[in-house]
Amino acid sequence: MRIGILGTGAMATALGGAWAAAGHDVLIGGRDRAAAARTAARTGAGGHGDLARAAAHGEVILAAVPAAVAPELAKEYAGLLAGRTVVDCTNPVIPTDDGLVLSTGGAGSVAGLIAQAAPGAHVVKGFNLCHESIWTLSPPVFEGVPLAVPLCADDPQALARVARLVTSIGCTAIPCGGLVRAAYLEATAAFAIGAWWSGAQPRAAFPSPAEAPRAA
Ligand SMILES: NC(=O)c1ccc[n+]([C@@H]2O[C@H](COP(=O)([O-])OP(=O)(O)OC[C@H]3O[C@@H](n4cnc5c(N)ncnc54)[C@H](OP(=O)(O)O)[C@@H]3O)[C@@H](O)[C@H]2O)c1
Repeated sequence: MRIGILGTGAMATALGGAWAAAGHDVLIGGRDRAAAARTAARTGAGGHGDLARAAAHGEVILAAVPAAVAPELAKEYAGLLAGRTVVDCTNPVIPTDDGLVLSTGGAGSVAGLIAQAAPGAHVVKGFNLCHESIWTLSPPVFEGVPLAVPLCADDPQALARVARLVTSIGCTAIPCGGLVRAAYLEATAAFAIGAWWSGAQPRAAFPSPAEAPRAA
């Protein structure tokens, strides 16, 4: 699959590297073209260039930039993004004395803002729940279970396309409903990151009911 990545940092490197290793045609785009070239070299991506080049390259575009920036770029490149699948992995979290809070207030989502800014794009929220280091595992499997990647999207074809990207790197996609539910994934990330920072293991908070003994 052709994938354009907006950003040259940690998530661009980790996901771009995983997708390139899985055989996808990845192009890294940055506002700093030298940084884009360095990230492309680190990841094995086939190409690099500016942000417009990345927005024009992909069937899928990954927004791997700060949460406040993603809707701005979506607006700037709305024409290029029309008809394409845009993956939003951003987390709009702000550290405060009371822990992490959402810059959106939890009422809407960054994914929703991207969709508003680029009305022709098919936005998929996903890849935001794990630390970037997880995507460098090949494959990301824990206790024998492939990593699950929740996805929210309104467009079924865009969802299916991103689910294929998930499975191509050895993970399992979990469709979680429409884009209106992206705010839940952003809030879940705020919860998980807050728990990691406090030394807790948020994964331990979600056992399946199937693991509990049933009353006779
Ligand atoms: N790191 C993680 O573990 C992790 C996990 C899940 C989700 N996320 C989310 O993924 C997104 C990217 O995180 P990251 O860790 O990859 O960040 P990062 O390493 O700081 O990289 C951010 C990238 O965004 C670019 N950027 C910043 N402001 C920009 C602007 N105004 N216009 C164009 N490009 C701009 C930066 O370019 P310059 O170098 O030129 O500044 C850089 O390439 C964030 O929204 C974050 O919440 C991160």
